Amino acid sequence: MRHHLGTPGLAPGAAPASVVHMRITLIAVQSLDGFITRHGTPGAGFASAADGRHFRAALREFDCGVMGRATYEEACVGGTFSPTPARRRVVLTRTPERFAAVAVPGALEFTDAAPAEITARLQAGGGRACALLGGAQVHRLYLAAELVDELWLTVEPRLFGTGTPMLATPADVRLRLLTHEPLGDDVLLLKYTVQR
Ligand SMILES: NC(=O)c1ccc[n+]([C@@H]2O[C@H](COP(=O)([O-])OP(=O)(O)OC[C@H]3O[C@@H](n4cnc5c(N)ncnc54)[C@H](OP(=O)(O)O)[C@@H]3O)[C@@H](O)[C@H]2O)c1
Repeated sequence: MRHHLGTPGLAPGAAPASVVHMRITLIAVQSLDGFITRHGTPGAGFASAADGRHFRAALREFDCGVMGRATYEEACVGGTFSPTPARRRVVLTRTPERFAAVAVPGALEFTDAAPAEITARLQAGGGRACALLGGAQVHRLYLAAELVDELWLTVEPRLFGTGTPMLATPADVRLRLLTHEPLGDDVLLLKYTVQR
């Protein structure tokens, strides 16, 4: 079952656009022991084909996305990624000027702004559903800012022992399970809301 992305407590269309809250959903795939990379290998190459299908379908539910510079360089540079305002992407970096040549206003932006400011900008630009695309530093930053509404987590039947953890630094975030569904052989998709 796919979770409804509307504003809780409001019938569809009941609120003026100016007060509609942009939903932020952290989407990740991890090993059963909580790593988003396999050992020191960047990327999510360990993920199953079933998760790949889920991820591509899930992204169609979002009009914008935020990621860290490391994730951007791993996932978007040198591949088939093409910036488009329909899928606006914001990349967090402390040196946005380094990326001036590849930035596309309204489609691919690099910033050192705080998460709340990025959220306000995306919302002002019409953003209604934002995918938080990792990695561990950006997960932690957004959870600390209490800006994550949901977590969609694919759990692969793998144990790595080491790797990039889901969160870059210690945290204690309480979640409530919304749905659980098998994606394919031995692969689970868990959806949670973040309790505040
Ligand atoms: N399995 C999954 O679902 C999944 C999902 C996403 C990513 N990943 C993997 O996770 C790894 C990357 O995770 P990561 O935690 O190392 O890196 P990350 O979160 O993708 O990016 C870290 C970078 O973000 C920037 N940044 C962080 N905090 C910032 C702040 N407060 N203000 C401005 N910029 C800030 C910095 O960029 P600068 O250094 O440029 O300043 C920092 O080096 C990659 O291997 C990626 O493939 C896996």
